[in-house]
Amino acid sequence: MSKAPGSRTKVGILISGTGSNMEALIRAAGADDCPYEVAVVISNRPDAVGLDRARALGVDAMTIDHAPFGKDREAHERALDAALRQAGCAYIALAGYMRVLTPFLVQGWSGRMINIHPSLLPRHPGLDTHRKAIEAGDAEAGCSVHLVTVGVDEGPVLAQARLAIRPDETPESLAERVLAEEHRLYPAALSAYVARSPSGLPQDPAPRSAPE
Ligand code: GRF
Repeated sequence: MSKAPGSRTKVGILISGTGSNMEALIRAAGADDCPYEVAVVISNRPDAVGLDRARALGVDAMTIDHAPFGKDREAHERALDAALRQAGCAYIALAGYMRVLTPFLVQGWSGRMINIHPSLLPRHPGLDTHRKAIEAGDAEAGCSVHLVTVGVDEGPVLAQARLAIRPDETPESLAERVLAEEHRLYPAALSAYVARSPSGLPQDPAPRSAPE
């Protein structure tokens, strides 16, 4: 059944670059039965390609540049936090947001901030995941949607997609194949997670950990 405008859970997306996952999240929100809408896209980099992509899809997009804040990460995050609240967001989806977050934002949005990472966590946190997976001789690679906690790429995993690493695989070919999986996984995982608590407030005492 179609939802009335404004009745869906508002999500803010943070980006730093291309925004292909952001675009997948926005496009999925076009479905009548999607439980979320994308209220705002915020980039910490003024030159992020994703800003124009968001606007072309009819979503408000803004830059909150980290540079003027210098080393004061928390002050930058206070500005992000204010903009997300102003837009009425109940959740944050990180989509290629390339800044390590401080406890201010992570704890302020605990249980309401999710990320996509291009590996089968807990394997290969951090950068350069595809090369690491190939060099480790892994049989499988993939991507993970997880809750954001203070430890980088350490939060509870909500969903994963996996694929077999081919004998002739390169980091580039693997990146391309995993990214296609990311674009399927992220909207599905965000929808399922938001549907559990549309207000963003805990509705029961059960921990929000990964479904079995
Ligand atoms: C993706 O590989 C995502 O998993 C990682 O950063 C990349 C962002 O790509 N967190 P894009 O900006 O969504 O195209």
